[in-house]
Amino acid sequence: MSKTGTDILKAAEILHGGGLVAIPTETVYGLGANALDPIAVAKIFEAKKRPHFDPLIIHANSLEKVLLYVETIPDPLLKLAKTFWPGPLTLLLPKKNMIPDIVTSGLETVAVRIPKHSLTLELLSQLDFPVAAPSANPFGYISPTQADHVNKQLGLEVDYILDGGSCEVGLESSIVGMEDGKICLYRLGGLSIADIEAVVGPVELKINQSSNPKAPGQLKSHYAPRKPLLIGELKELENRFLTKKLGIISFGSYHAQLPSSTVKFLSLNRDYREAASHLFSTLRELDESNCDLIICSLLPEEHLGLAINDRLRRAAADSEGLI
Ligand code: TXA
Ligand code: MG
Repeated sequence: MSKTGTDILKAAEILHGGGLVAIPTETVYGLGANALDPIAVAKIFEAKKRPHFDPLIIHANSLEKVLLYVETIPDPLLKLAKTFWPGPLTLLLPKKNMIPDIVTSGLETVAVRIPKHSLTLELLSQLDFPVAAPSANPFGYISPTQADHVNKQLGLEVDYILDGGSCEVGLESSIVGMEDGKICLYRLGGLSIADIEAVVGPVELKINQSSNPKAPGQLKSHYAPRKPLLIGELKELENRFLTKKLGIISFGSYHAQLPSSTVKFLSLNRDYREAASHLFSTLRELDESNCDLIICSLLPEEHLGLAINDRLRRAAADSEGLI
């Protein structure tokens, strides 16, 4: 029997029984388990080969439920929750004891989000526990934005894949918390800084670029294809690699010099949202193609261009050594 479908009852049953279900969200697909069951959560780390120091996000379908799992929500974060949930926003909040240490890697805060996808919201509404779900990719690889991406890479590990089509946003959620009364942004994502600041005023950027971060998550090398990915001016890169078969990722339109190159446009109209929604599937497509290496240029550092560039830089972080 196919492991992929739209059977919410089946998904709920599997989660109740301690199994793994891939869930669609507006950002990326998540690899879900009952967040209150440490044994079920351990299966997520095993399936993804994810280090235990990297904590998970828990998902619920309502603010009322979120309040069952956290001690409190500081006012500015509550304002963000009320404005952007369901949506691509994750909040770091003081956890209640019922949230197992394996979910938070021993931290006192838990990452929480209400995702915006009708199938997953319906599923979550039928559960009396939150669903812990990291992106449903092997650790360090490109995040999945279609059910088939999950099936190809974690099809054996997962018990069921709830197929909700292509993810609309295509970038993971923006992660926001508070330190010493200041609002901090820990991961650039589907909500732009401007979106967030319009609601709560200036935020402090705490985006970790280190390859050995003090705080978990946000590793320098991440979201990476297996093929080398180089960032730079496209024409220059083409000249540098004239003898190679190139996969080219361009924001707007672009004409390659050599016919052996494949060019993929993130958005011909240079629309940031469209570009974000195509980013991971484009990287994946070129990674699976017969090109030797992938080249791309950064987008303007504004709006979602910031989050897209963050993913591209992390995806490219280990590539120079590969060529
Ligand atoms: O859009 C998303 O956020 C997707 C969908 C499935 O919801 N999930 C996702 O999860 O991107 P994941 O595990 O790939 O990324 C979660 C990030 C990691 O960088 C992790 O370190 C950070 O959130 N994180 C989780 N809990 C944290 C905490 N208590 N403190 C600091 N960072 C935390
Ligand atoms: Mg991830």
